[in-house]
Amino acid sequence: MTRKTAELYERARALIPGGTQLVSKRPETFLPEQWPAYYQRARGVELEDLDGRQLIDVSIHAVGACPLGFADPDVDAAVIAAIRRGSVSTPNCPEDVELAERLCDLHPWAEQVRYTRSGGEAMAVAVRIARAATNRDRVAVCGYHGWHDWYLAANLADPSALDSHWLPGVEPAGVPSVLRGTTVAFDYGDIQAIDRMAAENGDQLAAIVLEPAHHRLPPQGYLEHVAQVGRRTGAVLIFDEITSGFRLAIGGAHQTLGTDPDVAVFAKAMSNGYPMGAVIGRRAVMEAASRSFISSTHWSERLGPCAALATIDKLERKNAPTHLSRIGERMRTGWLERAKKHELTITTGGIPPLPTFRFEHGEDCGALATLYTQKMLDQGFLAFGAFYASLAHDSHLDAALEATDRAFAALREALDRGTVNESLRGPLAHSGSRQTRS
Ligand SMILES: Cc1ncc(COP(=O)(O)O)c(C=O)c1O
Repeated sequence: MTRKTAELYERARALIPGGTQLVSKRPETFLPEQWPAYYQRARGVELEDLDGRQLIDVSIHAVGACPLGFADPDVDAAVIAAIRRGSVSTPNCPEDVELAERLCDLHPWAEQVRYTRSGGEAMAVAVRIARAATNRDRVAVCGYHGWHDWYLAANLADPSALDSHWLPGVEPAGVPSVLRGTTVAFDYGDIQAIDRMAAENGDQLAAIVLEPAHHRLPPQGYLEHVAQVGRRTGAVLIFDEITSGFRLAIGGAHQTLGTDPDVAVFAKAMSNGYPMGAVIGRRAVMEAASRSFISSTHWSERLGPCAALATIDKLERKNAPTHLSRIGERMRTGWLERAKKHELTITTGGIPPLPTFRFEHGEDCGALATLYTQKMLDQGFLAFGAFYASLAHDSHLDAALEATDRAFAALREALDRGTVNESLRGPLAHSGSRQTRS
């Protein structure tokens, strides 16, 4: 790390348990001792670190929070105008209603809306509503849904329950043991797995919670089958669209996948980096929210809904889903072509706007991934095995792929010479727990 960054990160580690507020922003996940832990300015995909280094972000790009790019001028203008009109008051802001109408227009199956200011808490609200609506406790989950007790409870009965849901090795420390058995996990895309889960838990299920698409697109007929299980068991079907939303469609990915849930949850891309979360749903389910105490001061401020309205307008105007998929697929193809050219074996995953890759070189994989990030950083790029496309990436893709070409060439050379490990200037990247999410 450069000097100012290293000093500040050392202070942070003494003051802030874990060093950062978001596990996925820990520099150790990417490139220990070298990754810029802090930024001073960011716009589009460009940023400046504390020591004045100019960098281009072709990595997780604020974990997918900014599909229009960092500091989008139109969204910022809407937020600044809202600040000038007063970001908070005793009465409510009218934009709450405007956004609710917009979200219901985009999702004709949905009739009511509640807000939060982050994804994880929006999921907690959705699950509370489902439990209140069904008078049942148990929840079935697939995928990552945040940090709250209701979700991590899955690991109380089986400490590895969430391992295959992007949360390997997470201890449910601090989660009340009385929640054991209230959340069960099932594997994505496997019709037999969901049928088994339903046979074991069916008449007790309050909700079936899953990302309609994240790691990959669902197999044909899968989501419809999950919806049928929901109808048969009386469980509320909740689609977590916090990462998939506003990328494959203006609104939920489920709109392109042909199955509507009872409740859908949005955050991240919906407001281009400003804190906002929304739970939308069918009236029969959502009305339970008025019988449950679900309330928070900052859920009533004005910047979140104003940012969301401006973001949705611009995503629509720019036909963002088409371009995000095109940009993501260009990156995926670029990785594959260059890996082939330099005789590196990689596999790719992820949906089109959010491609991922990993090296398949046995015990060298971790060192190769770390060296790749180091070689890219040396050329001024933040890069990693996951790419969250934004519209602002378009004009930087050629340069990023040229840099990838040089990085892959260097990896090939290091492999041939047996110098992969000794080429690293710091320790291997390690996730601690979660790798690329949240
Ligand atoms: C699918 C999904 N659900 C929930 C969350 C949690 O959202 P947040 O980090 O805003 O609390 C995330 C964040 O990565 C996510 O990707």
